[in-house]
Amino acid sequence: MSLIGKSVLLLIGGGVAAYKSLELIRVIRKRGGSVRCILTKAGAEFVTPLSVSSLSGEKVFTDLFSLTDEAEMGHIELSRSADLVVVAPATADLLAKMAQGLANDLASTTLLATDKRVLVAPAMNVRMWQHAATQRNIETLKGDGVLFVGPDEGEMACGEFGPGRMAEPSVIADAIEAALSQRMSLLGSGSLIGRHVLVTSGPTHEAIDPVRYIANRSSGKQGHAIAAAAARAGARVTLVSGPVAIPDPQGVTTAHVETASEMLRAVEAALPADIAVFCAAVADWRVETQSGDKLKKTEGGPPALALTPNPDILATIAHRKGERPSLVVGFAAETSNVIDYARSKLDKKACDLIVANDVGGDSGVMGGDMNTVHIVSKDAVDSWPKLSKADVAERLVALFATKFAPKVRL
Ligand code: CTP
Repeated sequence: MSLIGKSVLLLIGGGVAAYKSLELIRVIRKRGGSVRCILTKAGAEFVTPLSVSSLSGEKVFTDLFSLTDEAEMGHIELSRSADLVVVAPATADLLAKMAQGLANDLASTTLLATDKRVLVAPAMNVRMWQHAATQRNIETLKGDGVLFVGPDEGEMACGEFGPGRMAEPSVIADAIEAALSQRMSLLGSGSLIGRHVLVTSGPTHEAIDPVRYIANRSSGKQGHAIAAAAARAGARVTLVSGPVAIPDPQGVTTAHVETASEMLRAVEAALPADIAVFCAAVADWRVETQSGDKLKKTEGGPPALALTPNPDILATIAHRKGERPSLVVGFAAETSNVIDYARSKLDKKACDLIVANDVGGDSGVMGGDMNTVHIVSKDAVDSWPKLSKADVAERLVALFATKFAPKVRL
């Protein structure tokens, strides 16, 4: 991977991490890219325009109302001449301005005027990062398609510990390469740009009492990989995830849930969607009456747990009269008669495709990194070779994209 021939517009906000942006400029140029920089007023308190211009080899832009700058290159042109706009460090203030669409200085005006993808590398004090207002702004920005890299967790300049440190320059450069290659694939014919993709992933946990629950071995790896691949294909992606030990994918809005009922509510709240992929291993049953107190061992022996069926999320959405996604995809985890069972689920659950996989015996699918799937539709079965879950996700997303022409022109 490289950045040869690519140009980045880097907006440097006012934070201690601004010194790392100097290194970022160096890394981008070392990988063959060019960088033009906007330095905010606060950013100029941390790094000087002279260092930024020496490292970038370009003039630095600072002032919205500079007659000379506007004559040489207007801020609209500045916002559109790059392949990607990167904000690093993205301070709480800059993120808030972006989320609100404020435009009162060169950086925020450029961000509002750009027609290019924007990648932000947040950096701020841990409490500012965790504040409800910042988290709200982040959700808004993710919904707008803004890409995020970091922040990392660690010791901060202010002496506190937690998330808020800006990602390392080499990691930001990797994210820049990934964002640019996504854009390249967006320009291809099989794009999902302008589409909303909804994915469920992971297991559900159904409480027995305050400390115990019924669960299954699903890791969420396949569902998360599909969400990430759909985002890379340019879709707006909502991931509804049960409890998993893997991170939220980049560029995806993730709703975290525990139970099947919560998952159904989150899925319904995310509609309308163009494509819905139900990859979660939803518990078929929950305990009829959860105990408010921890169940104790008694003389009478183990408690009898009465179970009641959970809602079938896939079937509920696929049978909807209004707001049924155009493409509804289910998964079938089977241990025998894989294709036959998948066909009957396709029918019973009214979905358009079933991705059937054999999870039996020593397949290692549950929790593992590989998967062997069969794509079952009404009149065909396509059996794919054993692939990594990431490759299964890429191929599935490419398959979905063949069913949708791009909605917006770039
Ligand atoms: N599914 C769902 N809600 C449920 C159960 C399953 O959305 N309550 C979805 C899964 O996400 C998957 C598909 O239905 O896409 C098939 O799930 P699976 O567990 O294989 O099938 P079941 O309907 O549970 O049938 P069985 O357990 O009898 O195999």
